[in-house]
Amino acid sequence: MSLIGPKSQALQRRAQKVLPLGVNSNFRYWGEGVTPYVEKGQGAYLWDADGKKYIDYRMAFGPIILGHAYPEVDSKVAEEILSGVLFAMTGELEIAVAEMIVEMAPAVEMVRMACSGTEATMHAIRVARAYTGRDIILKFEGNYHGMHDHALWSTYAPVEAYGNQRSPIPVPGSSGIPKSMREFIITLPFNDFEGFERVMRSYGEQIAAVITEPCQGNCAAINPQDGFLQLIRQKTEEYGCVFILDEVKTGFRIANGGAQEYYGIKPDLATYAKALGNGYPAAAFGGKKEIMSIIGQGVAQGGTYTNNKPGIAAAYATLSLLKSKPILKSIAQRGQRLMDGLKDIFEENDIPAVFSGYPAMFAFSLGIESVANQRDWARSDHELYITLVESAIQRGVMPDHDAREPWFLSYSHSEKDIDDTLSVYADAVKAVRR
Ligand SMILES: Cc1ncc(COP(=O)(O)O)c(C=O)c1O
Repeated sequence: MSLIGPKSQALQRRAQKVLPLGVNSNFRYWGEGVTPYVEKGQGAYLWDADGKKYIDYRMAFGPIILGHAYPEVDSKVAEEILSGVLFAMTGELEIAVAEMIVEMAPAVEMVRMACSGTEATMHAIRVARAYTGRDIILKFEGNYHGMHDHALWSTYAPVEAYGNQRSPIPVPGSSGIPKSMREFIITLPFNDFEGFERVMRSYGEQIAAVITEPCQGNCAAINPQDGFLQLIRQKTEEYGCVFILDEVKTGFRIANGGAQEYYGIKPDLATYAKALGNGYPAAAFGGKKEIMSIIGQGVAQGGTYTNNKPGIAAAYATLSLLKSKPILKSIAQRGQRLMDGLKDIFEENDIPAVFSGYPAMFAFSLGIESVANQRDWARSDHELYITLVESAIQRGVMPDHDAREPWFLSYSHSEKDIDDTLSVYADAVKAVRR
């Protein structure tokens, strides 16, 4: 059975004439004859171009926290766009969104809006450099902070390229990143307590910012080990560096106050996108007033679309819903049941699997017993993962093809969707084992 039908295959051929790889983002290309092309989405489901229905666990790489085409969000957007979408002036709705972010995110005292996670982290890095008067950024292998040149290092490269754990080699994530930028980046394995302390002792006073995702949301959702985020907080304070917590995936998903609330940790700056707008282009970065206040005082930040009405209206509706109902609790309960059920399936089939992440965004690595960083994850059984995923997709359940990408749940995933997913996955595993 092929993964995609004739119409999707025809769309791929047509798209490849005008779009490199036939897609608008490299991550959306899964290969020839397997790359899905979409028709529509509703709630927890999507339909591909051939009309086949799936329970969606990609949720567009995480933004869809409520569900596809969520009525309260779409109706707020529809209402707002009737009175114009862009003015290059500030309106009341965006002030209200900023107030809600400040109220919900424990570390955010002031905020600026943006359109994508890439923009949010790029601006946060600029502000951190301006605030400290330093240039170097420390990031962790396997974390992804967007497409800009400042942090697209040691993201998806084969770990063999990273060198020895004691002196990691930063590997650019793309041709076209100036070689000279190598000077401004230090990379380390995630959860490397000893390495982090050592690097901070040697370079702490030259480092502008330590940026990290709370969990490795772009590498199998590997969790921070106890005390790791606290160590980053402690050492960045000691050496006067800005601690940027990239909550683009975790923000407004794992708790209303994101990982800051979940772990009780206060970074200096935090970045948001994805769940903030339930799929519309809304992003933000914010943090301590003392740091954010330098924007406009010789520090540049802006963008024509940073207060685009569809994004702002969607953020307003999404945050209002998250604040008024226990939405994330309900997602977490269903996610936990799904994780537990999948664990049982692997156990019954004698497949070693380690689960990581949170019920609202989790991942599993097959064939290994523990995973602390991307170097460990690289030893997991990717071939088995992909075979299982393809078997599940053929049966109407769609997690991402890439084992690094977590399974994302939304408020629209029902108890029945979880039951159906578990029975599909059990069949998929049995079929693969046969
Ligand atoms: C943690 C993190 N930061 C930043 C980004 C970049 O966000 P965007 O794709 O909206 O530019 C992503 C995207 O997946 C992300 O996961």
